[in-house]
Amino acid sequence: MRKKIVAGNWKMNKNLAETGELIAEIKRSFNNPSKANIIIAPTFTNLYYAFEEFKGLEITVAAQNMHHAENGAFTGEISADMLKSIGIETVILGHSERRAYFGENDEVLAKKVNTALKHDMTIIFCFGEELQDRKGEHHFSVVENQLKNGLFHIDANQWSNVVLAYEPVWAIGTGETASPEQAQEMHAFIRSAIAKAYNDSIADEVSILYGGSVKPTNAEEIFAKPDVDGGLIGGAALDAESFEAIASAI
Ligand code: PGA
Repeated sequence: MRKKIVAGNWKMNKNLAETGELIAEIKRSFNNPSKANIIIAPTFTNLYYAFEEFKGLEITVAAQNMHHAENGAFTGEISADMLKSIGIETVILGHSERRAYFGENDEVLAKKVNTALKHDMTIIFCFGEELQDRKGEHHFSVVENQLKNGLFHIDANQWSNVVLAYEPVWAIGTGETASPEQAQEMHAFIRSAIAKAYNDSIADEVSILYGGSVKPTNAEEIFAKPDVDGGLIGGAALDAESFEAIASAI
């Protein structure tokens, strides 16, 4: 059975003291074990701290990005080995903000995917169309190409280390959410694309998260869709109560 996952992407928010406060609140509100696997991705400077703080709890700490090279002259970058050395086994790759503001294209992402898998890390691979793609009705082909070019080169046995996050760019941080039907339609399409490129059992087993303005008020109806296995949460993950409410909506 595929896993239910609720992941919080804290983006470039929360300094060390604020991270400590939010973690304390999360620990208080997450007394009851959630039905979903919980993942939290703080910023790099607070990763180790968060990892230590969440130790022993069923909360996985993830990085928001990493470089594809093993090491070397890449000022300002972080390697897979550095993440692994502080206990981080999960990394978000291909977030639309990385694609849009930091020039990450499918080719670079394919390299990052390879490096993460080589280090036996779990990838949360993000992708999704922009508003003009949807308006022009080529959202399916945009998504299929992102998957083909960034991810579909991996071996069948590596899919157990992959979680997908469909995040329509027009719905991220905008307050605008894809309707549950739009999310379901795309998630079903993604599964069919995987079945075509690999096989039915991989398509069936991979968890596909929806991301883009998920809130306590809309989480339940989105998560109720059969091909939606959870969410990647931005803004609402910065508030422990909202995040807990979203996690409970699974
Ligand atoms: P949002 O962000 O929930 O604030 O829209 C989602 C994301 O970027 O992963």
